[in-house]
Amino acid sequence: MNKYTRPDYSTSSSQAPNETIRTLLERRTIRAFDSDPIDSQTIEMLELSAQHAATSRYFNEWSAIRVTDPNLIETIAQDAHQLYITKAPLLYIFLADQRRNADLVAAEDPSMTESDDSFILNSGYSFLQAQNDAVLALHAMETAANSLGLGCVILGSVINDPDLLIDILDLPTLVYPVLGLAIGKPAQNPDPKPRMPHRAQIFENSYQRPTQQDIGEALGEFDQTVYQYYRDIRHKDAPRKTFSRIMRDKAFNPKENHSPMAPSIHRQGFDLEK
Ligand SMILES: Cc1cc2nc3c(=O)[nH]c(=O)nc-3n(C[C@H](O)[C@H](O)[C@H](O)COP(=O)(O)O)c2cc1C
Repeated sequence: MNKYTRPDYSTSSSQAPNETIRTLLERRTIRAFDSDPIDSQTIEMLELSAQHAATSRYFNEWSAIRVTDPNLIETIAQDAHQLYITKAPLLYIFLADQRRNADLVAAEDPSMTESDDSFILNSGYSFLQAQNDAVLALHAMETAANSLGLGCVILGSVINDPDLLIDILDLPTLVYPVLGLAIGKPAQNPDPKPRMPHRAQIFENSYQRPTQQDIGEALGEFDQTVYQYYRDIRHKDAPRKTFSRIMRDKAFNPKENHSPMAPSIHRQGFDLEK
């Protein structure tokens, strides 16, 4: 049987020119955690790392909530269908946040009102940039945590029911939940998942759709690598599939989608048409 061989980037961390790149190349999602608490100094460093991420227009348009209330954690875990996150010693919900800036503006100049047409913190662009900010901050925290030997899982599923999250976390208008991040000492050691061939994902100057030849060759090889990875390394009982087959099974599967997000985004005061 053709055994899966780890791709170069994950075996040869020795090729990484420094610790930062080694941390990035060895990154993988952790979904099982020791119950050991994380000390306050480490938490401070993780939060500071997130705060130093780049921020669009210097608006600082994101926030995060560290969730410590066991009832809230349980509700979030249930809604996300990710019960293991109740075991993680740290859980954050990252938020796109234009509320703080809107409040600062109101305090600075009470004559300016959010209902004015010229107010832009509720626009589609502001919503998008605040999302970008939140994602970058989360990624900085994830990398910082990984560099300290901690493991993380990013959680898109925390917004399975955005209205529920908005209610239980008391999110005011102009604040929208983006992603969760659970962090803890890893209680598992999964191999990094294979990534696509470089040339299939990173282009020069213009977009390159895969040719039939690419699909047959480089991407075909990736298909086989993914198949072998699942067969030999991961869910040994799960159906064995190539990447193309996984995508075929998901691309038309309503369970992989979400009910339309626009109503809850609108409820939070953003106007994506603006
Ligand atoms: C935006 C985003 C949302 C994600 N949401 C979840 C999630 O809700 N539950 C989960 O178990 N993993 C989640 N993940 C982790 C991905 O499943 C994981 O990154 C992917 O399978 C690749 O595996 P790796 O991180 O080990 O390389 C998410 C990742 C991203 C980037």
